[in-house]
Amino acid sequence: MKAAYLVKYGPAETAFEIREVEKPKPGPSQVLIKVEAFGLNFADIAARYGKYRGAPPLPSLLGYDVVGQVEKCGANVKNLTIGDRVTALTLFGGYAEFAIAENGVANKIPESISAGVAVALATQYCTAYFLSDRITNIQENEKVLIHAAAGGVGTALVQMALHKKCIVYGTCSSPEKMEYLQINGVHHPINHRKKDFAETIRSLVGDKGLDVVFNPIGGKSLKQGYRLLGAGGRLVSYGVSSLNSQKTIFGKLKDLWQFGIYHPVQFLSNSKGVIGVNMLKIAEEKPKKIARVMQEVIQLQQEGILRPHVGGEYSINQLAEAHTFLESRKSMGKIVVRW
Ligand SMILES: NC(=O)c1ccc[n+]([C@@H]2O[C@H](COP(=O)([O-])OP(=O)(O)OC[C@H]3O[C@@H](n4cnc5c(N)ncnc54)[C@H](OP(=O)(O)O)[C@@H]3O)[C@@H](O)[C@H]2O)c1
Repeated sequence: MKAAYLVKYGPAETAFEIREVEKPKPGPSQVLIKVEAFGLNFADIAARYGKYRGAPPLPSLLGYDVVGQVEKCGANVKNLTIGDRVTALTLFGGYAEFAIAENGVANKIPESISAGVAVALATQYCTAYFLSDRITNIQENEKVLIHAAAGGVGTALVQMALHKKCIVYGTCSSPEKMEYLQINGVHHPINHRKKDFAETIRSLVGDKGLDVVFNPIGGKSLKQGYRLLGAGGRLVSYGVSSLNSQKTIFGKLKDLWQFGIYHPVQFLSNSKGVIGVNMLKIAEEKPKKIARVMQEVIQLQQEGILRPHVGGEYSINQLAEAHTFLESRKSMGKIVVRW
């Protein structure tokens, strides 16, 4: 089979090489999937620069989500059969013509779901659902701030918050994304390059503050988000995009310092808190939780409540272009690459 290996850290143009390798073999609880398409995730950009600690060493196969047909089932797999079309989570290994997934996180989907939508459901929507339903349990009328609201996870969080009838504040970095947020129903879109998001929100919400902040960026924005929370507030830290940029060691130390310093007594007296979420960790330790979330997300998509937006579809020969687009911060929704 062919697989797109990450062979060199750095710019996308020189990072990947298509190699001919043996098909992987599924274990007893796994399925082998003939991959129709795989999705890109922002963590892939960090991995390409050698900055993603959990990624395998070079030469490595990235890829968290695939859509395709079940080619082989392990002996203990009862819920899927050969030929089923599935969307699946792969803990790396997705950038290949064949990929392995645990059967719990490979879910049957109808032919009518496009490849881009299918992979968005597996990663961005499962993440957003886990954050908004399981971790923060957002409620009607709660004031919710979503950073990078035009991105893959951001788009999903916006749809979930609107479905729960929350009041949504969303940040982004361009006029095109502002328009996208408006179309998606964000009540208060904020271009953080034009306006200080914290001051803007403070002037809108006053002293009672926000109820929930979803932060995939880290750095100063995390501390600012924490300060914006009112009593009962929950801040979820689920990414550190700000640390991705090429900075000196002093720049990085400054970034880390800017996250702020927190103490449980402070959480107690102010009645608000911070929680970190790493979906890979949960998938490794508690895969059944992810499997359940995935089923619920697919159900909500089938009911028309969740509508993933595919912001770019590329062929495997354009993998570098797809990576560069996601890195450019111009993408909206999910980016997908087809074999
Ligand atoms: N914890 C988990 O388990 C988990 C799972 C999935 C995803 N994530 C995280 O969720 C985030 C979104 O992932 P995605 O794949 O859906 O990507 P995405 O949101 O489609 O793209 C990332 C967006 O983040 C913003 N951004 C990028 N670099 C930045 C920087 N240096 N400073 C501030 N903002 C920056 C940009 O939005 P603007 O330019 O509009 O600000 C960019 O479009 C990523 O941080 C990813 O690592 C975490």
